[in-house]
Amino acid sequence: MTETSQTSLMQRMLDYANRPDPYPLYEELRRTPVRREEDGTYLVGTYREIVQLLHDPRLSSDARNRPDGGAGAGEGDGMSFSFILLDPPEHDLLRRLAMRHFGPPHRPAFLDGLRADMARIVRERIDAFAGRHEVDIVDALAYPFPVTVICDVLGVPHEDEPLFHEWVEEIIQPGEATGPVDLEARRKRAEQVISKARDYFAGLAEERRQAPRDDMLSGLVTDDGPEGRMSEDDMLNTAVLLLIAGHETTVNMIGNGTLTLLRHPEVIERLRREPQLIARVFEELIRYDSPVQFVPFRTTVADVEVGGTTIPKNAAVTLVLGSGNRDPAFCADPDRFDPDREEREHLGFGGGIHYCFGAPLARMETQVALGELVRRLENPRLVNDPPPYRRNAFLRGPRHLQVAFDGVRD
Ligand code: HEM
Repeated sequence: MTETSQTSLMQRMLDYANRPDPYPLYEELRRTPVRREEDGTYLVGTYREIVQLLHDPRLSSDARNRPDGGAGAGEGDGMSFSFILLDPPEHDLLRRLAMRHFGPPHRPAFLDGLRADMARIVRERIDAFAGRHEVDIVDALAYPFPVTVICDVLGVPHEDEPLFHEWVEEIIQPGEATGPVDLEARRKRAEQVISKARDYFAGLAEERRQAPRDDMLSGLVTDDGPEGRMSEDDMLNTAVLLLIAGHETTVNMIGNGTLTLLRHPEVIERLRREPQLIARVFEELIRYDSPVQFVPFRTTVADVEVGGTTIPKNAAVTLVLGSGNRDPAFCADPDRFDPDREEREHLGFGGGIHYCFGAPLARMETQVALGELVRRLENPRLVNDPPPYRRNAFLRGPRHLQVAFDGVRD
């Protein structure tokens, strides 16, 4: 059943007042599995329909299929896009070429090799809490840690890392915009910074071509695999994509995760006794409070029938993952945080061909960070509940998270 309503549900989802708790709106959304908004766009919030559409090739991710032709979405010179904004066969080829330098089957040990480094980075950041009784977990850990990790993955030398901390801050700014004029200014600034990051990667790629190392950029620029090598433009788009996609998401994962755990001290107690529980806790945290609340910008390239409704060709469709994850048709008592639940097929990393490329890295980063926080902070507790949130509705998480504690264990 399609429903047209006087009030745009999307407007209410974007309303900053709903940031701390968007879940009642999602409950309303799920009453109409496929909802047509006033402006002709579609919102889908039920688990089964989201899964169906994530796997439907008639829903395009290609920015050039959008009604505006992808204006403002191109990262490269002219109108070139990274693989998150492409369809097969271009998407699949570029994703395979990138994966050869990131994970199995070609580099099965690469990510595991980063674990010790991650543990050291987190340890040093928590060591710095000593002598204090309150910290902002976002500024002190959740924000800087993923930048350091993605720089390691790509092969950015440590001395250049501060540049990336600055750039990432600028690149995500459009998501914090307070209105159309502000958005335009922030977009311009983000574009300038992306262009700087591309120039930087072009220089670093040249160095790695001459003297390759054990990092992703070296792999991308020296690849002699059966499918050939990425073009320079695609390589730069991929490096910038990994920087952006790998950052804000993980910051919010660690922020939302810390918040949920502090609201459930009995789970913190269990984690202290059973540290291996962190793997299950992670899956439940991402289901319960997903950092990526929705996937916007899919476009139908044909009429698509779903949930009893036909979405017409050329419609913009938003898949509300955060709602699908709380659908009672997916798991019983979905508003309860329960690491013991058996349902594991959450939508936190999307699904289908665009399923999160960095999921194993994100899992490892979050498990290391939350595992160490739980183990080392004595009697941690929230100072403000709810905390102040970032403006961004789709990449949702706390802007600050003040945590008080009695001491720091070794
Ligand atoms: C907890 C943290 C993370 C979450 C919740 C998350 C979530 C997602 C989601 C929902 C998608 C699907 C987007 C779509 O369908 O259009 C996605 C795609 C992607 N993610 Fe992540 N992500 C996380 C961390 C990372 C990290 C650390 C990296 C970097 C290594 C990364 C790289 C990517 C890339 C490259 C894509 C595009 C995949 C494709 O188009 O084939 N993500 N992510």
